[in-house]
Amino acid sequence: MDRTRSASSTASVSKAAAWPRISAAERARRCPGFRVVGLDASASQLAIAEQRCTALGLTNVTFVEADVYSTGLPRNTFDVVHCRLLLCHLQRPEAAIREMADITRPGGTVVCCDIDMHELYTLPRTAPFERLREIYLRRRHMDGLDNHLASRLPALLSAAGLRDLEMAFIQPVAFRGEEKRLWEYTFAESAERTLEKGLVTETELDALLEAVREVSRDDQVGVVQARLPVCWARKPTR
Ligand SMILES: C[S@@+](CC[C@H](N)C(=O)[O-])C[C@H]1O[C@@H](n2cnc3c(N)ncnc32)[C@H](O)[C@@H]1O
Repeated sequence: MDRTRSASSTASVSKAAAWPRISAAERARRCPGFRVVGLDASASQLAIAEQRCTALGLTNVTFVEADVYSTGLPRNTFDVVHCRLLLCHLQRPEAAIREMADITRPGGTVVCCDIDMHELYTLPRTAPFERLREIYLRRRHMDGLDNHLASRLPALLSAAGLRDLEMAFIQPVAFRGEEKRLWEYTFAESAERTLEKGLVTETELDALLEAVREVSRDDQVGVVQARLPVCWARKPTR
């Protein structure tokens, strides 16, 4: 992101959520000379992000409730268009990236930070965590979501006409605290849908969730957070 600071305005597409690091607020905080637009399809997620920005005293951010496939934002305008943990929820990520590229100004940058859940595990490895990850990935596949999106990001950005591609990975390891419990909560939240799909019995799922809570309580075991690929590329000037 530092490379793009010399520009004067920033759009942050789909940046608002209940997750601890709320992207619109982060962009606005790190880029005080920019105007940031935070976009999400969910009014409640936007409200959370807005509260966070207000609490941080950030005045350079506004929020838009819209669909990333059709943002309604002006074409060829924004210096940086950034999304985080959005594409993994979409059935048509390529269409979302095309819209992001459309609203970026020529010479501007599109940044996509997503997730590779194959790279989610504990240190040392624990069987219940491995099993829950496998079930979670199968459920996502049944929902029509692409578990291999991370490896397709460079191709998707190129297909949207973007150039000068760069990529990096982020992968923290948590040994304690709420960060560590993120996947415990995620698996628990998706339990009902997992049962509906018939991927596991209620008895097995209860035992797996209890085993993961046990991992959370054990400071000797680390949760290697799912790897976050960050891929960015520039919109050609002509
Ligand atoms: C896991 S959250 C990520 C939130 C935030 N970007 C962050 O990094 O903290 C996924 C977000 O994508 C939003 N979302 C899902 N489908 C969307 C769509 N078609 N258009 C815009 N936002 C969408 C959801 O409302 C949710 O807030």
